Amino acid sequence: MKRAYSNDKITVYWDSDKCIKSGECDSRLPQVFDVNSRPWVNLDAADVEEIKCTIDACPTGALSYVLRDQPASDAVTIQVMEDGPYKVSGKCKLMAANGKELDAGRVFALCGCGSSKKMPFCDGSHYNRFRSRD
Ligand code: FES
Repeated sequence: MKRAYSNDKITVYWDSDKCIKSGECDSRLPQVFDVNSRPWVNLDAADVEEIKCTIDACPTGALSYVLRDQPASDAVTIQVMEDGPYKVSGKCKLMAANGKELDAGRVFALCGCGSSKKMPFCDGSHYNRFRSRD
């Protein structure tokens, strides 16, 4: 399931297939991301900078955004998430080992721990892997 939420400053995209329920969004900005409300995203409850910072912390790219007054950049960025995946954003192709192009969207997370059951994508399994080190 994919959803888009907009106001006059920002459009936020949510892709349930990428969501690993890390809790980054609803713990950082619960007035905007409330899983018990419908719609669960209320963009008028915080300023755009807070929303951007919270979405940037989403480890898998399940949440992404485009600013109304700024087109999305085509530059590719790869962000190493702490104890987690490699989050990729920008205009790029993701190719499987067999040469087939994978449908990954503009923001996605590649597994960096080797535990995912949805390779090459992160499925949240790293939480158990890194927690077991404690
Ligand atoms: S980094 Fe998330 S499952 Fe491997």
